[in-house]
Amino acid sequence: MKKIDISTTATIFDTISQLSEEDASLLQKAIEARKKAYAPYSKFNVGAAILLDNDKIITGNNQESAAYPSGMCAERVAIWKAGSEYPNMIVKKIAITAASSITKVNKPVGPCGACRQTLSEYEINQKQPIEILFTGETGAIVKTESLLSLLPFSFDSSYL
Ligand code: THU
Repeated sequence: MKKIDISTTATIFDTISQLSEEDASLLQKAIEARKKAYAPYSKFNVGAAILLDNDKIITGNNQESAAYPSGMCAERVAIWKAGSEYPNMIVKKIAITAASSITKVNKPVGPCGACRQTLSEYEINQKQPIEILFTGETGAIVKTESLLSLLPFSFDSSYL
């Protein structure tokens, strides 16, 4: 028997002004996308912006449904939009932001487990890490250097 330690490294920024120009403008695109979210049930608006290596930026936001489980997260809307439009793309980074009309979102909102799983498929296939930036409406911005660092012991196609 042995115990192992699994650690993740993240950089915490206090404000958007501390980000590189590229990261700040990607986050700005995510904020714009967030404002167009369709979230009448949760009132929790999420925006995501993906930078591809062809310099295209693909955005997405959460799309809810009166049949609740039929809704979809911003990150998966964005990555599938990117994957369907640019099937051989390399994803460099994704910025995520969330805000709510009924509560203050003042801490970083990381991608949900299902979105991490979905994004991991792209990182594995492209054999290059995807940088993840996430924040709330206000407060700190977290940046990690890869998706898989947020998903230890993950499931992938090698098990099938
Ligand atoms: N949501 C996202 O868009 N991304 C996440 O990573 C977490 C949750 C959405 C789904 C739903 O529309 C709302 O936020 C509340 O869960």
